[in-house]
Amino acid sequence: MSGPAPTPVVVRRLTVMSESAPTRPRPTGAGSSSAPARPAVRTAVVWEALQEALSRHAPAGQPLDVVDVGGGTGGFAVPLAELGHRVTVVDPSPDALASLERRAGEGGVAVTAVQGEAADLVALVGAGATDLVLCHGVLEHVEEVEPALAAIAAVLRPGGLLSLLAANRNAVVLARAIAGRFDQARHALDDPDGRFGAGDPLPRRFTVEQLAALTGAQGLAVVACHGVRSFADLVPGALVDAEPGAAEALLGLERAAADRDDFRALATQLHVVAVRAP
Ligand SMILES: C[S@@+](CC[C@H](N)C(=O)[O-])C[C@H]1O[C@@H](n2cnc3c(N)ncnc32)[C@H](O)[C@@H]1O
Repeated sequence: MSGPAPTPVVVRRLTVMSESAPTRPRPTGAGSSSAPARPAVRTAVVWEALQEALSRHAPAGQPLDVVDVGGGTGGFAVPLAELGHRVTVVDPSPDALASLERRAGEGGVAVTAVQGEAADLVALVGAGATDLVLCHGVLEHVEEVEPALAAIAAVLRPGGLLSLLAANRNAVVLARAIAGRFDQARHALDDPDGRFGAGDPLPRRFTVEQLAALTGAQGLAVVACHGVRSFADLVPGALVDAEPGAAEALLGLERAAADRDDFRALATQLHVVAVRAP
């Protein structure tokens, strides 16, 4: 009897460890007193929601086991490691993991990098072994959403948190219309996956209701949902960069609108924080 050989899970473990001791926490993007750069405007709402969720759900100051699935080059993973957490990035891209390695080295922190897919998380990091899973900008790309989310839920400890960031279906309709691509906007309006046509690079986008249903089906209860980049992607970059104080003002506006249903409905991304039942 010779059936097809089982597909091996590709795992490449890189423990990225600098010789220097971990440096003082330097969270990027959130609450910095210096002028926020444009990337900070794009990520600040996520950072702040994440930090608030952690302060409520995690004992103060205690290092947590964090998995950043599809963590890419470590934009969130490295700052979390700098805060003292034990961070593992699982990502199928060797190039992204190499960049992560460089970024962690520059930050003087340890991050474990594992080459693999979201659906294989249990085999890669173990069931019920994680306090926090980040899944940012990944559900749009995975082959199948439900198995990926099931694996994410399975690696969380009871009471563990999921930080889920995903593209908003409504936003692409607005974005294509503003770009003058009215046919694409019309297509995206009714497309079941929220795609604007054959040339759309994203396989799918989500609504708030879909994200709540998908996480709920895996035993994860939504504790917060924010709109991310409600305005930042609609404003010409030159306008923000040239005007003194504009970036701070834009950031203030993003913060103020993030949890208002009407603006969240049009934000580029939706950020959901969900907790696994204790
Ligand atoms: C848009 S990037 C987001 C990177 C990072 N999470 C961030 O927010 O900056 C998408 C990432 O998902 C990874 N990815 C794609 N398919 C994946 C899968 N099936 N499982 C886990 N990660 C995946 C890609 O390699 C890439 O690093």
